[in-house]
Amino acid sequence: MTSPVDALGARAAALDAEHAGSDLRHLFDLPEGVYLAGNSLGALPRAVPVRLEAVMREQWGAEAVSAWNTRGWWHVPRRVGDRIGALVGAGAGQVVAGDSTSVALFQVFRAAARLRPGRRTVVTDPGSFPTDLYVLQGVAADVGWQVVLAEPHEVPAALDAHGEDVALLALSHVDYRTGELWDLEGLTAAAREVGALAAWDLCHSVGAVPVQLDEAGVDLAVGCTYKYLNGGPGSPAFTYVARRHHDAFEPAVRGWHGHAQPFAMRREHEPAPGIDRVRIGTPPLLSMLALEAALEVFDAVPIEVVRERSLSLTSFLLDCLDALVPEVELVTPRAPGRRGSQVSVRHAEAFGIVRALAARGVVGDYREPGIARFGIAAPYVTHSDVLATATELRRVLDTGEHLADVEAEGPVT
Ligand SMILES: Cc1ncc(COP(=O)(O)O)c(C=O)c1O
Repeated sequence: MTSPVDALGARAAALDAEHAGSDLRHLFDLPEGVYLAGNSLGALPRAVPVRLEAVMREQWGAEAVSAWNTRGWWHVPRRVGDRIGALVGAGAGQVVAGDSTSVALFQVFRAAARLRPGRRTVVTDPGSFPTDLYVLQGVAADVGWQVVLAEPHEVPAALDAHGEDVALLALSHVDYRTGELWDLEGLTAAAREVGALAAWDLCHSVGAVPVQLDEAGVDLAVGCTYKYLNGGPGSPAFTYVARRHHDAFEPAVRGWHGHAQPFAMRREHEPAPGIDRVRIGTPPLLSMLALEAALEVFDAVPIEVVRERSLSLTSFLLDCLDALVPEVELVTPRAPGRRGSQVSVRHAEAFGIVRALAARGVVGDYREPGIARFGIAAPYVTHSDVLATATELRRVLDTGEHLADVEAEGPVT
């Protein structure tokens, strides 16, 4: 009789063969073992160091300041923005790269208040990533909004209750803890029905889940690029502003790169036409050009195929967990349409589990309270990796390695 692990092994091999066309591991320099932290920091695409070396020597080194013109550095935030826009269903000229997600959130929240004057309510998910909550609370205090907390499934009722007083609905497309994928189209439509704006944080969906911002009528969106877009640590964020809002979008931070005539050196700020007004100051060009090289991964397969592979991987991970470690509590929805690209489990010793798995070469991460996350970056994760994760987790729980007194390696969990 074949053991459950042998049967799963045969399935893993068959699924990896079936999805061989979307296996892009050859495009990455991967760490040893099984890397399931691509929802925190994406792996290194091989094109990045090659491009950076060339940029540094041939552009910065050989041309120095001239490269702003000769190499089109001034336009890189737009160029990269359009490339990201293609992954999130945004027509050209509506996405710009730059700054951090936290700064981008501040820009769009402040601008939203100016786009909906007189309305005093903002609705958001209490389970949002902390920076989203902190920035929103700060903006709310400045502009006099009351913050109404509603989980995404409670949002329609909250919008009904506050109606035309709602200026903004601010949500994340995928919950960073549970990996739950929320209904961006439906919730955006609900916000628009009461005349509110919808702003989405796409950090955990961009590069993993196809998004249709234009089609869904989304007003504003932001996202980071160091997770599923593999832009590298601290790579620039992006901001989407729907074209219909461009003229009325008043940037909160009026930097000179967002000026209509930056080199006229005027005393007064005049916002640039279009999405350029969202720009602030000199962008981190090396990071921006590293990101541009990283995005070439998505030339190899369409985002819909990445999603198919991701769903196959996360479904198989659920099967492996059910078969091998049924005692762990799954917090990620089982319905594929309600899942982003990670699988999370809750366990009293989740931190110990994450550390013990890392010692065995399976890298996930830990989030309070008591959640172990396994990020599935489909381009470089395989079904065999997924099975190895469940078998190593079985071994950890059997040996009690997760109960050992583990020291945190540093501030990052
Ligand atoms: C949903 C979400 N928003 C924002 C951030 C981070 O913001 P920043 O890029 O400014 O650090 C994260 C980071 O993990 C996140 O998961």
